[in-house]
Amino acid sequence: MIVLGIETSCDETSLSIINEDNSLLSNVIVSQHSTHAPHGGIIPELASRQHILNIEEAFDNCLLESRTNINDISVIGVTNGPGLIGSLIVGVNFAKGLSISANKPLVGVNHLKAHVFASWIKKDIQTKKTFETPKEFPLMCVIVSGGHTDLVKLDSEFNFELIGRTRDDAAGEAFDKAARLLNLGFPGGPEVDKYSSLSNDRFDFPRALLKGSHDFSFSGMKTAFLNLSNKHQPFDEDKISKLCNTFQEAIVDVITTKTIKAADEYKCKGIVVTGGVAANSHLREQIRLKSPFPVFIPEKKLCTDNGAMIASFVVENYKKNSEKFNNIEVKSVLNY
Ligand code: KG4
Ligand code: ZN
Repeated sequence: MIVLGIETSCDETSLSIINEDNSLLSNVIVSQHSTHAPHGGIIPELASRQHILNIEEAFDNCLLESRTNINDISVIGVTNGPGLIGSLIVGVNFAKGLSISANKPLVGVNHLKAHVFASWIKKDIQTKKTFETPKEFPLMCVIVSGGHTDLVKLDSEFNFELIGRTRDDAAGEAFDKAARLLNLGFPGGPEVDKYSSLSNDRFDFPRALLKGSHDFSFSGMKTAFLNLSNKHQPFDEDKISKLCNTFQEAIVDVITTKTIKAADEYKCKGIVVTGGVAANSHLREQIRLKSPFPVFIPEKKLCTDNGAMIASFVVENYKKNSEKFNNIEVKSVLNY
């Protein structure tokens, strides 16, 4: 069984192929960062247009890299939400066209569930890297991306229970806004990560832990950061590094503390960290250091948006629910 995964929900056009052992044969990711960077954030209309320009070549390269052709593909999976509507439409329509012309079944995949399934990818055939995957349930999953910060309990691969979410900004959004205050590039998360590594020093900074709840809130920390950074104008590289290190430490502390607490309370056997912010080096280090449970974090390029996680979701679902895969159509957006 060979699955093609298509992801176009935001600003990455990504097509990937995975086999039935959940080994990655190819993972083509065309980023639009240079298109959006001059605007300091994603412009939805530009994102849709870039997907249209990029998707065919990305598909050709995906087949080429995996040494497969369209006849080898058994199922096509495509993100059908949540995401930017224009961007989603490009991927879904490309997938529908392919499905009809090549006579292949098509399944619509929830982007957030798919982020979690990046943790089930066992191997990258091109780099020959192997990855440890979760085996025991329940799992506490924290999905930290540009649009979401969700704590989800998984009783099995398919039973998602939302137990907490951000009440305002997402973690990635907070990183992006902090970077913008310091005039760093877009996306801001990787910039904050890079500058933080240049400093061992931090300012005092508050954390919003919302005790008694599994929800998150980052907007107050964002305002605190605005006030702190205003006090330290004009910026030089040392100040920027110390400010980044302060903010990153606080956000990572909140995510780490709350995820471990939730895992403990729900008697979980492991923790999954995923979504773009899971590429943050300090978060990867700290949660592994502090968690008494095994921690699974996909490699960095599988944390940010990619088609491999979509294909992984389809492969794992197919293994458990093969009868439901006859006659598949793109379904409406699934919620948890
Ligand atoms: O999952 P993702 O690629 O797209 C969404 O589904 O939103 O996440 C993108 C987010 C952006 O906000 C970006 O700044 C953040 O992930 N991000 C990071 C890092 N790499 C990406 N945040 C902190 N540290 C990083 N290294
Ligand atoms: Zn995402």
